[in-house]
Amino acid sequence: MRHERQVELLKRVAASGDHLEGLHAAASATNAASAYTDPARFELERKLLFRPGPLFFGLSAGLAEPGAYRAMRADGLPLVVVRQADGSLKAFVNACRHRGAPLVEPHSSGQGLKAFHCPYHAWTYEPSGELRARPLSAGAFDDVASPCNLLRRPVAERYGLVFVRPHGDEPIDVDEVLGGAEDDLGAFGLDGYTHVESRTREWHFNWKLFFDTFSESYHIRTLHRNSLAPNFNSDCVIFEPFGRNLLSVGLRANVRDEFAKPETDWSLLPYGTIQYFLVPNGLVVHQLDHVETWIVEPLAVNRTRTTTSVYAPEPPATDKARNYFVKNLDMLLNVTGEEDFALMQQIQQSLDAGALTELVYGANEPPLIHFHDQINRVIAESTN
Ligand code: FES
Ligand SMILES: [Fe+2]
Repeated sequence: MRHERQVELLKRVAASGDHLEGLHAAASATNAASAYTDPARFELERKLLFRPGPLFFGLSAGLAEPGAYRAMRADGLPLVVVRQADGSLKAFVNACRHRGAPLVEPHSSGQGLKAFHCPYHAWTYEPSGELRARPLSAGAFDDVASPCNLLRRPVAERYGLVFVRPHGDEPIDVDEVLGGAEDDLGAFGLDGYTHVESRTREWHFNWKLFFDTFSESYHIRTLHRNSLAPNFNSDCVIFEPFGRNLLSVGLRANVRDEFAKPETDWSLLPYGTIQYFLVPNGLVVHQLDHVETWIVEPLAVNRTRTTTSVYAPEPPATDKARNYFVKNLDMLLNVTGEEDFALMQQIQQSLDAGALTELVYGANEPPLIHFHDQINRVIAESTN
């Protein structure tokens, strides 16, 4: 993040009062509980937000060399992105053209792919997606009209971020997707990072509860009283909208220490958990010494799959250095799994049972107000 931007954001904190009241939204808001529980609403969200995409598909890190690939489901569709010999990325539907078997494990990544080998009847494909052979089929498919190449999907990368479109063939304009966040995100040099590890898990809550719990800091002092609370501010976050995306910066408790220095020396990075929410499915978190990404995949109105990855600014030189980042990932998944997501699952159960008709978002939770406003607008426009 450019120095002027860090100073600009810190100035907002300096001018915001003892409890960061100056960072509050203009007004609180409410949202219908059915936004989290109604299957018809969920289907609309999938149709309007997830199916057309573009969807975040992780960082370019780990996809540097020809033959490097990453497979994931996007709107349920199995996709695989592969680095080509000419340096470009291609995205394919990860389904064999014979009878649909996945060519690589649906949530996996790897290096040095020379060909796709179908595990079912051994059809093989070039990394470019062309069918190479149907071994030992004795001419049984010679009359098939289709060339049976892998089906392609639009993919684009910029600033070290990869996006795919699960359905449709319209090209992806990454700047348009980022909606103004490209200046900040570009300055992080994400294309220089190294992938350390990814983990995929499933949860029993609506996908939007993921964004809710990550984007505000109000819950830290209570829910995370034994983990994060001593070191983090719980009053408010720095919030900024980028189209339907948003920036939410969680602050360290000691952020005001920086104000004792001359402004030219100010730095936000040691004091901020800088989170870019790439709606509908991505979160890029810039921590001082590493980057985390989250990819959210709605499975049902009350079921969500998350893939969490950690990236290091340089390839870890030793096992010990690598372990440091793996430990960070362990800690992140422990706190979110045992504290945030455990509670989100209870909230979902209660909402499913009709416990509340509406939820309230405070002025001290500005990202939630923006996020739900954006989603509700998309839904309202489609039904008008
Ligand atoms: S499904 Fe792939 S070869 Fe039959
Ligand atoms: Fe939390």
